[in-house]
Amino acid sequence: MVLYFSATGNTEYIAKELAKRTNDECVNLLERIKKQDFSPIHSEKPFVICAPVYVCEIPRFMMKYLKKQPFTGCKDVYFILTSGGYCGPSGILLKKIFKSKKMICHGYAEFKMPRNYVASDDYPMLEKNQVEERIIGSYNRLEQVAADILAGKRLKARHVFLFETLITLPFNPVWCKYKLTAKDFYAEASCIGCGKCERLCPLNNVKIVDKKPVWSNQCTHCMACIGNCPVNAIQYGNITKSKEPYNFGKYEYVVKNMNE
Ligand SMILES: Cc1cc2nc3c(=O)[nH]c(=O)nc-3n(C[C@H](O)[C@H](O)[C@H](O)COP(=O)(O)O)c2cc1C
Ligand code: SF4
Ligand code: SF4
Repeated sequence: MVLYFSATGNTEYIAKELAKRTNDECVNLLERIKKQDFSPIHSEKPFVICAPVYVCEIPRFMMKYLKKQPFTGCKDVYFILTSGGYCGPSGILLKKIFKSKKMICHGYAEFKMPRNYVASDDYPMLEKNQVEERIIGSYNRLEQVAADILAGKRLKARHVFLFETLITLPFNPVWCKYKLTAKDFYAEASCIGCGKCERLCPLNNVKIVDKKPVWSNQCTHCMACIGNCPVNAIQYGNITKSKEPYNFGKYEYVVKNMNE
C-alpha cells in the first residue's frame, strides 16, 4: 500500500505513479492527519511511505502522525522522499520511526522535484524549463524504483554523513521557530470563498469566515493553501507578489507529453 502526504502535488504524483507501476493501492493521508484518525491501516503488500522534505526533515506533523499510527499485516516498509534536491537525514528519521514499530525497512529513494516554497526567499523558485527538467528526470526514475519494490530489493539513496545530521537536526527547530508563521498570509479581493485552502490545510490552520480565509498560528509553511488556490488569491506579505505559486498540476502536460 502506497501512503502519502502532499501539499502541492509532487509527492502525490510520485506516489500515484509508483502505485500504478506496482499494481498497488494508493492512499492520501490528508484526511487522517486532519482528523487525527489513528485507526489501524492494514496491507498484505509492503507499505510505501511517501513524504516531502521540509527543512531537511519530513514534515513534523507527519512524523508525529506516523509515530502514533498502527500498521498491520505486511512488516515490510519502503520510503520515498520528494525534495528540491536535499533531503538531509529525512530517510534516517523515517527508518527510526518504523524500526520502533518492529517493521523491516528496505531503504529509501529520493526524487529531486521542483521547489514549492514560494513564501520564502531562501529557496528561490525555479524557471519553467528547470521545473520541466526535474519532472522528466523523476519520471525516468519511476520504473526502476517500482521494479526494485516489486523485486523486494533495497532502495538506494545518497549516503548521509554524520556531520550533515549533526548540523541539520538542530537547524530545523530554530528555522521552524523563527520562520514558520502564518501571520503574513492574506487573501486578496479576488478570493471566491471556495474553501479549498481550509480543506487542504493539514493542520486545520485555515478557517473560512464570512466567505474569506482566516489563518491561525499553527502553520508549517507546507504551501498547500497558497499553492492550490484556484484564483491565485493568496499572498504572503510582499514575498509572493511577483511570484507564481507552485503546483504540480500546472505541469501535468510534461508527463502527458512523455506518455504520448
Ligand atoms: C517549508 C518547506 C521547506 C522545504 N525544505 C526543503 C529542504 O530542506 N530541502 C529540499 O531539497 N527541499 C525543500 N523544500 C521543497 C520541497 O521538499 C519539495 O518541493 C517537495 O517536492 C514538495 O512536495 P509536495 O508538492 O508533495 O508538497 C521545502 C519546501 C517547503 C514548503
Ligand atoms: S482557495 Fe483561494 S479562492 Fe478558495 S477560499 Fe481559499 S483563498 Fe479564497
Ligand atoms: S496555513 Fe500553513 S500549514 Fe496550512 S496549508 Fe497554509 S501553509 Fe500549509
